[in-house]
Amino acid sequence: MNVLPHTLPGARPDLPEGHRRILDGIDLTVHRGETVAIVGESGAGKSTIAMLASGLITPTRGEVLLRGRPTTTMRMTELARSVALITQETYVRHETIVENLRYVAADATDEEIVAACRAAQLHDLIASLPEGYQTVVGEKGYRFSGGERQRLSIARALLKRADLIILDEPTSQLDAQTEEQLNTALAELFADSAVLLMAHRLRTVRTADRILVLSDGVVRESGTHEELLAVAGGRYAALYRMQDDALASSRSAASAD
Ligand SMILES: Nc1ncnc2c1ncn2[C@@H]1O[C@H](COP(=O)(O)OP(=O)(O)O)[C@@H](O)[C@H]1O
Ligand SMILES: [Mg+2]
Repeated sequence: MNVLPHTLPGARPDLPEGHRRILDGIDLTVHRGETVAIVGESGAGKSTIAMLASGLITPTRGEVLLRGRPTTTMRMTELARSVALITQETYVRHETIVENLRYVAADATDEEIVAACRAAQLHDLIASLPEGYQTVVGEKGYRFSGGERQRLSIARALLKRADLIILDEPTSQLDAQTEEQLNTALAELFADSAVLLMAHRLRTVRTADRILVLSDGVVRESGTHEELLAVAGGRYAALYRMQDDALASSRSAASAD
């Protein structure tokens, strides 16, 4: 996958009137079986890359390729099959759980659905409901919690066997330790896909094959966790130490309670 510059409405003199540059010179390839993490503060451009990579928006310049094909030449149904975008928002329809899962993979068997839910750690909960997979969800039915919705979107992504899995801070409302465990588990679950993982907290992506440090829409550093820590005067190294210290002090504050 390649993602190149993109602009959204705003203001900047060298761009068409009413446009502001959001990303600049992003050149990124994610291979199958590889996890690439993008870290950066809020507003850095992570979600914009997630939307570009899913083919939901198109860059002003450059192109996004999926298996070598520009996303602009792909039909929406094909894009939807090939890419799974997991964010903090997971939509459910007022229908049964099994229908909410099968809509991403119409021909999935019951066994495949159960297997995906087991892997996403959702099966035990569903099995414990009186009507199991036939339970109706939504406002007038069973209401999934935020964490359960996320697991539903993970189960959907597994069922689709998507080529590209994009995780846009789906676990960022959790504490850092839980987020780290989940991210590691997700990377294993999606080991056969290309995984693009967006995160605000650096600690949670240490095991990624490659980490890009994004700031103001520009990739400032890239490498493995160890490589980035070794960069003298590096941003990643400084941010990592800062976030690690903050975590350590919040832990010691918690244990002092
Ligand atoms: N739809 C939009 N219209 C205009 N500006 C946007 C839009 N979405 C995001 N932005 C701006 O683009 C920049 C990057 O945002 P985003 O990709 O959401 O960053 P991140 O996910 O790293 O927090 C921010 O300055 C944000 O305000
Ligand atoms: Mg974001």
